[in-house]
Amino acid sequence: MSELSKTAIFSFPASYVIDLRWRELRQGMPIETAHFEGDELKTTKHYGLVYPYPPYETSELASCVTFMLNEHEGKQAWQLRGMVTEKQYQGKGFGRMLLASTTKNLADKSGIRLFWCNARKVAIKFYEKQGWAVVGPEFDIKDAGLHCVMSYEQK
Ligand SMILES: CC(C)(COP(=O)(O)OP(=O)(O)OC[C@H]1O[C@@H](n2cnc3c(N)ncnc32)[C@H](O)[C@@H]1OP(=O)(O)O)[C@@H](O)C(=O)NCCC(=O)NCCS
Repeated sequence: MSELSKTAIFSFPASYVIDLRWRELRQGMPIETAHFEGDELKTTKHYGLVYPYPPYETSELASCVTFMLNEHEGKQAWQLRGMVTEKQYQGKGFGRMLLASTTKNLADKSGIRLFWCNARKVAIKFYEKQGWAVVGPEFDIKDAGLHCVMSYEQK
């Protein structure tokens, strides 16, 4: 059985995704830096992929992503934030599965099909493989490196 078939995706409160975000996106920084403004808003959605599933004593959050409702180029849109796969699980398709499933689910539920993010330059290929496109020039975010704005229209 493939590892992907031993996963499940759930909606979680913000508190569940902070630790994974902190370890993979804010290494060496205080944990407070893994909290994002807007995390606690009712309109903000946090999702996580759990592996292995059904639950076992070693089950854990392997991948997570957050969507915040705001605008992109004057249109209502979901901003993707905190897309992370735990280091030991990277390259297994977990991120792709989480991203594809959550954008579809969120677009179908909300009717808002436009997504955007400030993508780390090192992760651009990952988003491109899921159909996202770079829509702006590179810019630097202090302590987080080079980024580009990317967007995606969920069919
Ligand atoms: C970027 C990240 C979320 C990808 O998650 P993942 O679970 O490892 O990705 P997947 O295994 O689902 O990969 C899906 C596809 O994207 C490719 N891919 C994933 N990360 C990539 C990267 N950094 N560069 C190039 N290709 C990448 C995979 O090779 C795979 O390709 P395939 O479809 O041809 O097999 C993960 O590497 C990560 O957490 N990185 C550190 C944090 C980070 O930079 N997050 C992004 C912030 S904008």
